[in-house]
Amino acid sequence: MTSAPEERAARRSQTRKMTADDAETAAALSNDEGAATWDALAFRRELDVPHARLEVVEQDGRVVAFAVWWEVEGELDLLNLVVEGAYRRRGLGRRLMDCLFDEARSRGITRLQLEVRAQNAPALALYRSYGYEVVGRRPGYYADGQDALLLTCELDGR
Ligand SMILES: CC(C)(COP(=O)(O)OP(=O)(O)OC[C@H]1O[C@@H](n2cnc3c(N)ncnc32)[C@H](O)[C@@H]1OP(=O)(O)O)[C@@H](O)C(=O)NCCC(=O)NCCS
Repeated sequence: MTSAPEERAARRSQTRKMTADDAETAAALSNDEGAATWDALAFRRELDVPHARLEVVEQDGRVVAFAVWWEVEGELDLLNLVVEGAYRRRGLGRRLMDCLFDEARSRGITRLQLEVRAQNAPALALYRSYGYEVVGRRPGYYADGQDALLLTCELDGR
């Protein structure tokens, strides 16, 4: 059962498509060490990519989270996902992941993949809870020398 505070929080928030006006805010959010760091121009370019989808969560009238994924050769590839620090552990990451999975199911896509820093425990916990499994490691993949893990998730197509 949903509690009253959670219901109030849900009423104050909405998930919607990113627009060019959100690019500066998304760029500021992406300046997090766990995220792929993109500037505002990178977000505006993504908005023009036909196979890209960019979603934001607005809470209390401002954007506090976003996700970007691509459909590539019948797979959904999560490129970036960030929730502002003060809004974490409130289910917003899960809400954006639900959008990704809703899209996969509605389009009949059964394979999803992503890359994540090997030391990013919160993100790994989130992805594992959706059924992603580690299938590869790219040593020293990030500029700071950290390894990347490659994760995939197979849906049964039902
Ligand atoms: C990873 C991230 C998007 C999660 O967003 P969030 O809104 O806090 O996640 P949710 O509240 O929806 O949590 C969903 C699940 O993720 C896992 N999780 C999230 N934060 C966690 C943490 N700090 N430690 C352990 N597990 C965590 C849990 O399984 C959690 O479920 P639970 O709350 O029922 O235990 C957020 O921490 C973030 O923006 N991090 C910085 C950017 C980043 O690393 N992005 C991923 C790049 S690949």
